[in-house]
Amino acid sequence: MIDLHNHIIPAVDDGCASLDESLMLARIFRDNGYRALCATPHIRQGMFDNSEEALKAAGQALAAEIAGSGIGIDFRFAAEYYFDERLLAALDRPENLLTLDPRGRYILIEFSYQRAPLRLKEFVFQLSLKGLRMVMAHPERYDWIANDFEFAADLAAMGAVMQGTLSSLAGEMGSRPSRTLKAMLRNDLIHIIASDCHGPDSAIRMLENSLKTLKKETNAETAEILLEKNPAIIYEGRSL
Ligand SMILES: [Fe+2]
Repeated sequence: MIDLHNHIIPAVDDGCASLDESLMLARIFRDNGYRALCATPHIRQGMFDNSEEALKAAGQALAAEIAGSGIGIDFRFAAEYYFDERLLAALDRPENLLTLDPRGRYILIEFSYQRAPLRLKEFVFQLSLKGLRMVMAHPERYDWIANDFEFAADLAAMGAVMQGTLSSLAGEMGSRPSRTLKAMLRNDLIHIIASDCHGPDSAIRMLENSLKTLKKETNAETAEILLEKNPAIIYEGRSL
């Protein structure tokens, strides 16, 4: 499996606090059957004011540590961009964006939980003109998606990739995101499932529980598509 959303880079956001925690989490992923990770630290104005340059340095440092550790898991890094002015400005220089793939095609974006951004469809279209695909982080947590699957389906039809979250399935975000995600899975509105792991503390239990739940909610073949096949396409920058 390949995880495309986690906060394993140490001391850059609310994820892992130290290199020890990061390496511990990398081992937990490997032990649960993961072969590759793409780290996605937060970039959010006023809350996580990370520059692409600083995250590149931190990502490369962790890459070297993981490679030297003998853990045996493939690693790259991107970012989880919050939909704000900072992101809109960054899109003017797409060559600097931290994308989930080496070709600069897939960008992970999270949104306000309560309010839908105005003109989101236009935004997805504008991204496509730049050769970018939006990967929507945890759609099951947004009220405006939970209340409007048709809107989610429209976004998907326009090329948005929907990333459901293991931690939501595990009930870590309350019962509503878990219910919503199960309904989205039944309606074929989810393309990939990622962990959104923030540290090693609850990771073992969370991964075991949620992976079991996912296999129960879908089937082995669908789980393979959501956890391995589609994530691999994105990780390699191929067309989904
Ligand atoms: Fe996240």
